[in-house]
Amino acid sequence: MKKRLVIGNWKMNPIFVSDAPSGVEDMVSLADEIDDAIEEIEGNQLKVVICPPTIGLQQVVSEADLTNLAVGAQNAWMGDEGAMTGEVSMRMLEELGINYVILGHSERRKNQNETDEIVAKKVKSALEHDLIPILCVGEQEKDKSEVAIHQLKKALQDLSTEQIERTVIAYEPVWAIGTGDNASTDYVADVVASLRRTVDELGGNGKQVLMLYGGSVNAQNASEYASNTQINGALVGGASLNADEFARIVAIFAK
Ligand code: PGA
Repeated sequence: MKKRLVIGNWKMNPIFVSDAPSGVEDMVSLADEIDDAIEEIEGNQLKVVICPPTIGLQQVVSEADLTNLAVGAQNAWMGDEGAMTGEVSMRMLEELGINYVILGHSERRKNQNETDEIVAKKVKSALEHDLIPILCVGEQEKDKSEVAIHQLKKALQDLSTEQIERTVIAYEPVWAIGTGDNASTDYVADVVASLRRTVDELGGNGKQVLMLYGGSVNAQNASEYASNTQINGALVGGASLNADEFARIVAIFAK
């Protein structure tokens, strides 16, 4: 069976949700809670990653007692160092021991005006620093999945076969993110099949690339995606902030 991946994208959360003295302490606590909650889940083909906000990365890596989880970032810049106020580089993440980075998320494409060109440079830079990019692609409107395919081409076209196959693709239709209107499994499987064909056209082996679904995944609907062989895991936003619910999702993908 192909390896599966479940990723928690905490976005700009959690902060001051518990009695912890600071938002960063909250992040460490949530990381520990999730790690404990998935302790008993068996499935050696499954990898679980949490992506806290940048400010919490260092403390989560150094203070949380993580034996079942890897840590990823939600974004980074492509240059190694220099005049780029407010950014952190892939190299800095690498030095911190981070293994994954989410890139091209639709919220950044929209709010930070990230273009396909910027996303492509970031993906390349991540790979050069031994980070696994979680490349997000997805259309704004239902039935316009050609947008996701175009985004994929733009992001992967200058990569080597080996680099393409190290990249994880998260298909996240924008209309399904945070709305509760999760895409049907058939819809996702169709688009993912097209994304795999696009990888083939670009010189990679589409079957080798891990393809995740993201968009209102929760413990109630996760089994629909987990039972489809085209889908290799999930990128989970809101439901990854609750350790029990996230662990239920992980357990479903571990089966
Ligand atoms: P959601 O977010 O699960 O809250 O819809 C997914 C994402 O944006 O990655």
